[in-house]
Amino acid sequence: MIFQFKSYIKFLVKSGLQPGIHSPFIYGLINQCFKDKTKKEWYKQFENYRDSLLKNPTTISTEDFGAGSKSLQKNNRKISKIAKKAGITLKRGQLLGRIIAYFNPKEVLEIGTSVGLATSAMGFANSSTHITSLEGCTSTANLAKEYFNKFELNNINIIIGNFDTTLTDVIKQNAFDLIYFDGNHKKEATIHYFEQCLSNVHNDSIFIFDDINWSKGMKEAWLYIKQHPKVTVTVDTYFWGIVFFRKGQVKQHFTIKV
Ligand SMILES: C[S@@+](CC[C@H](N)C(=O)[O-])C[C@H]1O[C@@H](n2cnc3c(N)ncnc32)[C@H](O)[C@@H]1O
Repeated sequence: MIFQFKSYIKFLVKSGLQPGIHSPFIYGLINQCFKDKTKKEWYKQFENYRDSLLKNPTTISTEDFGAGSKSLQKNNRKISKIAKKAGITLKRGQLLGRIIAYFNPKEVLEIGTSVGLATSAMGFANSSTHITSLEGCTSTANLAKEYFNKFELNNINIIIGNFDTTLTDVIKQNAFDLIYFDGNHKKEATIHYFEQCLSNVHNDSIFIFDDINWSKGMKEAWLYIKQHPKVTVTVDTYFWGIVFFRKGQVKQHFTIKV
């Protein structure tokens, strides 16, 4: 908690000192996507999906994987609590969806489905995007599948199993345009998944890492990712680290309060 507080203060100072943005690419992202205040039609669908989970009193038996959420350790969990603790918030879900609509990636990979909140935001925001989402806990993944069917989200495919095998397999078989890393929030695992996913990045690939300021380890993982030679531009929004690989772009790191 103290780490997160200090980290946030540093972030606020840094974002306040961020010089004018001269990169048209980042300028467009901030002004046409991050700061887009228009109400999207799909916001209501996402809100309904989220509310339906937040009001679900059923308990399911779950298996624990990775660091996940610091406050969820029991095996019998209320669906409403999983959605509240592990799932993306309303505002961030809307932002993630806007990013998917803005860049229009053909193939998206999500590492860590949980009950499918972030997945649904991406799926509602852009029905022409195909999403592959990985989840280790069978009962949680099955619940997400049930919700995707109920909300007619037909552009999502969940793969159940430990990332150690599922991620290796999907990366070998597909080229993803955007990858959302929201599974195991530990330094070593994050760096390992990053290295694995680097194998088939292209000029327009985008990686989004959740919770880069969540712990000392995640911050170290983020610093490692930023300095990697394949990485050109990064954006730190405090809760996410967004990574671009665009060749010909000067290596530059932005700190933007969204
Ligand atoms: C933070 S939650 C994902 C939240 C979701 N992306 C959202 O925003 O709604 C992380 C999920 O990753 C899964 N997970 C963590 N480590 C894993 C591993 N090594 N293999 C498979 N699943 C894992 C957990 O079971 C958990 O459901």
